[in-house]
Formats: sequence, structure tokens, C-alpha cells
Amino acid sequence: MKTILQKGDPQGIAMAVELLKNGEIVAIPTETVYGIAGDARRGDVVKKIFEAKGRPQDNPLIVHISDMDMLPRVVSSVPEDAKKLADAFWPGPLTIIMPKSPNISKENCAGLDSVGVRMPSDPVAHAIIAQSGIPLGAPSANLSGKPSPTSAEDVFADMDGRLPLIIDGGICARGVESTVISVLEDTPVLLRPGFVTKEEMEYVLQKPILVSSAIVDKLPEGEQPRSPGMKYKHYAPKANITIVEGDIDVFAAYVDEHGGDGVWALCFCGDEERLSAPCITYGREDDPAGQAQRLFSALRELDKNGAQTVYARCPSRDGIGLAVFNRLIRAAAFRLVQADAKP
Ligand code: TXA
Ligand code: MG
Repeated sequence: MKTILQKGDPQGIAMAVELLKNGEIVAIPTETVYGIAGDARRGDVVKKIFEAKGRPQDNPLIVHISDMDMLPRVVSSVPEDAKKLADAFWPGPLTIIMPKSPNISKENCAGLDSVGVRMPSDPVAHAIIAQSGIPLGAPSANLSGKPSPTSAEDVFADMDGRLPLIIDGGICARGVESTVISVLEDTPVLLRPGFVTKEEMEYVLQKPILVSSAIVDKLPEGEQPRSPGMKYKHYAPKANITIVEGDIDVFAAYVDEHGGDGVWALCFCGDEERLSAPCITYGREDDPAGQAQRLFSALRELDKNGAQTVYARCPSRDGIGLAVFNRLIRAAAFRLVQADAKP
């Protein structure tokens, strides 16, 4: 299959809409990451998405809508908490799990009776959904297991020959996937951290939100590496990443000691001059939003440079930092060391 790359202008948007109406799949930009979109109502179309991505079929797709009129077509009821969250954060990087409508295919939801719904704020995504009138199932547009794509070039690298059209909307403004929250029970559950934080949602709902234990591996005190959970390696570049917890002094000493051929540092902007290894930066230390925006493209850059072993500076676990930490700890297959400062 020949894959065409088109700008997200009116002509590109019209091409995407035409293909989607004909049951084809198209890679589209959103404010979080690029997605592979297709008609969520059609099981045959959803199967094409899973095939293009090489994704296990037991992992459900988020359904993307353009306005509130579309919501009753994709869910069977709108819980009170969902109304409040949608009101506060849509359009934007928040996915809300609600009871599924029979209109949405069972393939899209991997047989669950719930569906994740999101209203993207990206203008190109919005135009494609609105003009097609189709609720679009869309996972991130990476090959399964690779870092999510934050540019059309990243999508092309993974998807060339696997789908007919990629719409280029530029670099994604947010850079990590949406926050996912379930409101199926009285106590909402945070399933994936993102730009919309737990604290912001608790403020809107005026009640506590449970954090799914899968989000962050609990870390014991001490300085030994812990490296369980290889099976949870996601978002993974080819290099072996280890997160080194500690300030820049600790980190620089650690990199000095462990440097060598193929060793790179994934660090914050401004750290470079302190480090003996070649560096890729991912945002400033005090700017978790900037870190989120850069992380996935930084992981892909490490691959392009042939990095084999990577030591990464550790983001904070607060607010948007939790989303960054959650992606990075998976890219590192849960390898995290607490290095001590040298006396
Ligand atoms: O920002 C995003 O959410 C991007 C863009 C393209 O919108 N999409 C995305 O999709 O990240 P994907 O498929 O890579 O991740 C969807 C996540 C998965 O972890 C999936 O398990 C979860 O959402 N999910 C989807 N539907 C669900 C449901 N009914 N119940 C629980 N989790 C669900
Ligand atoms: Mg994904």
C-alpha cells in the first residue's frame, strides 16, 4: 500500500473525510499524540486499525467526538461525574470511560461494556471528526510497543505502507497521551495520568479519585536498582534506559562512572555542560509540561543516534510530572536507581 502524507489544510481534511466515510483508516494529528483513526461503529474497520498497529486485540480504542451532540451516539448514559469533567476539560486531553452504546462495535471496545470517549481540541482532528460525522476509534499511531508519535514524520517512520493517508498537523502541543479516568463507579479511578491532573479533576468533582496501582511502581527506600516488570515495557526505544534518581550532581557523577561506548544521557535542558556522555534533552527540570511535550520525540532521537545504554534524569511525580514519570518508567522497563552523591 502506498502511504500519502498530506498537510492538514482543507484539501487534506477532505481527503481524510472521504477515506473515513469509505471505511478506510487514516492517521490524524491530535493535541496529545497522532492517532490511527477509523469508524468505531464498524468492526471490520477497527480490525484494520489493530492490524496496522500490530496491537493485541484485547486493548480497547478511545472513541473521538467533535461536540457534545455526538456523545449520546457513543454512550448509553452519561454519569454525573462525566458531565462535570466534560464540562471542565473538553475539548482537551481527557478520556472518560462511560457505559458503551450498542452503536459502537464490540471490536472497538475489546468486548467490554464500557467505552473511553475523548473530544480532542486540535483543530484538524476536530474538523475531520465534525465533517465526517463519524465517531472515530483511534489508538496512538505508533507500532505497538514503540514510543507514541508526536509528529507526522514519526508516524511515517512506523506506518509507511500500512495505511493510505497521514495528515500532517505539525508537532503535537501536549506530547503525551490523554489522561484516562473511569467514572463507572461512585469513586472515579485514574487509569492513565496525562495533562489533566488528578488534583484538577478532584477539584472539579469535589471528591477523591483513586489512582490505579498500575500507574507507578512503588519504590522502596535504598539505592539498589530494581528491575522487575520487563513485560510492562512500553513506549520503548531500542536502547536500555535506566532512570537515575537524584539531582544533577548525583546524576553527573553516575554518568561519569558508567560512561562508555553507546552510552547516552537523557537529561534536562541545561544539564548538558555537566555531563561527560552525549545528551538528548527533554525539557527543563522545572517544566513538566515541556518534559511531556518532548519525551517521546527524545526517545525516538536516542534510537536515531544509535544509543544503546541511556541514563535518564528522573522527572517529579507531581501533577503533569506523574504523566511524564509513568511513560518514562515504562520506557525504562521499571529500571530505576537511587544513586548517592559522592562525598
Ligand atoms: O491521547 C490519546 O488518548 C491518544 C490520541 C490518539 O487520542 N490515544 C491513545 O490511545 O493513547 P491508545 O489506544 O494508545 O490508549 C488508550 C488507552 C489504553 O490504555 C486502553 O487500555 C484505555 O485507553 N482504554 C480504552 N478504552 C477503555 C475502556 N473501555 N476501559 C478501560 N480502559 C480503556
Ligand atoms: Mg498507545
